[in-house]
Amino acid sequence: MSYQVLARKWRPRSFAALVGQEHVVKALTHALEQQRLHHAYLFAGTRGVGKTTLARILAKALNCESGITAAPCDKCAACAEIDAGRFVDLIEVDAATNTKVDEMRQLLESAVYSPTRGRFKVYVIDEVHMLSTSAFNAMLKTLEEPPAHIKFILATTDPQKIPVTVLSRCLQFNLKQMPPAAIAGHLHHIAGEEGVRAEPGGLRLLAAAARGSMRDALSLLDQAVAYSAGEVTEGAVRAMLGAVDLGYLVDLADALLDADAGRAIGIADAMEARSLSFDGALAELANLLHRVALAQAAPDALDLQLPDRDRILALAARADPETVQLFYQIAVHGRRDLPLAPDEYAGFTMALMRMLAFAPAAAPDGTSVAPAAVVGRTPPSAPAARRGYRSGTGRRSSARSSSRALRASSPSAASSCRSPKTWSSFACRRTPRRSAKRPTRTS
Ligand SMILES: Nc1ncnc2c1ncn2[C@@H]1O[C@H](COP(=O)(O)OP(=O)(O)OP(=O)(O)O)[C@@H](O)[C@H]1O
Ligand SMILES: [Mg+2]
Ligand SMILES: [Zn+2]
Repeated sequence: MSYQVLARKWRPRSFAALVGQEHVVKALTHALEQQRLHHAYLFAGTRGVGKTTLARILAKALNCESGITAAPCDKCAACAEIDAGRFVDLIEVDAATNTKVDEMRQLLESAVYSPTRGRFKVYVIDEVHMLSTSAFNAMLKTLEEPPAHIKFILATTDPQKIPVTVLSRCLQFNLKQMPPAAIAGHLHHIAGEEGVRAEPGGLRLLAAAARGSMRDALSLLDQAVAYSAGEVTEGAVRAMLGAVDLGYLVDLADALLDADAGRAIGIADAMEARSLSFDGALAELANLLHRVALAQAAPDALDLQLPDRDRILALAARADPETVQLFYQIAVHGRRDLPLAPDEYAGFTMALMRMLAFAPAAAPDGTSVAPAAVVGRTPPSAPAARRGYRSGTGRRSSARSSSRALRASSPSAASSCRSPKTWSSFACRRTPRRSAKRPTRTS
């Protein structure tokens, strides 16, 4: 038998097997149990969160030979045919390729005929927002008062594009994105059923990379199984995703807090040598800083299972919250700007240097002092400026030569604009040396 991808093989066949979406399941279960059935449903949500899956389960619930039920038997011919995708009274239409009014008219004309096998004729219209305005208008009448044997299930990733006249004729359910913990739990279950050994750390990485989509998570698991050809280890998943080891990022955060540019750039070089993704690195750095901020503001909220938890707590103890916020913001914005950078290395290292340039200057006793722009004096030079950057031998790319030029340039330019509040506007005015004095009022 040919191999079936995990996402298809593990499509939930009952409401109980569905992960998350409890709010939708609860409402549909009550409606089915009390036989209070609407004739049109709209499932809205991002890719791979269960819209098509829910539509098929609902079609089974309506057509199961044991009666309308929230728990279809999965044994009768109707249930089996719906699961196999060959039930004649379940008509799945892809609105993305059938956008025109003529196609809609054809569909609605066929709707007047009674179901062939089942209790209801169920029309699932996927990506319904792609229909043309005239196609939407053509369906309004039928959508409002369809024949008793018709049920419409509309699915969309973009409900904003659906006319309100259509929305008001449907029961709308908004499906939620899957939280990473729920995805990791589901992956763990599936890996177990498939007899695949998988490290929890690896599954957590896959869950995070799926960004809320269960389908993406299962596709990534497929890929990881093929990649690792055996146990799905955390290391293998990291290598596959080009994900950055948290150890690098903790070291990087340490170097940044020490204002040690040389060390920070050295770590970036090591990451480049291993072909790690700098986009992923900025995302992970922002993630780490979020955890550091969490450890400072609400230590109990920090996950006890977190790898490197002790090092995160150590960072939280030494960094001041304002600096953490600033680094976080620069990491997030640096990621946004990455496509505009000459190359990823340049974009990444510029973000690091921006963090150093705008960080509040450290006072000799280790505490941070108010930014120069606020106090109106040139701040004490930061350790980075005192030490200077690492020598730039062995650099190849043009971006690297530009970073060499930056290293050679006067560090005082950076140290004169250390206001955390103004970094994003780049309005770093050099502090006028005489502005420390209050202007004397002349009459
Ligand atoms: N809530 C969920 N619980 C368990 N598995 C899920 C869930 N949502 C999606 N999946 C998995 O993802 C696959 C795809 O889901 P589905 O086709 O329902 O997504 P969709 O929301 O219709 O996405 P799209 O907008 O891309 O069509 C399913 O076969 C199933 O394996
Ligand atoms: Mg779908
Ligand atoms: Zn059945």
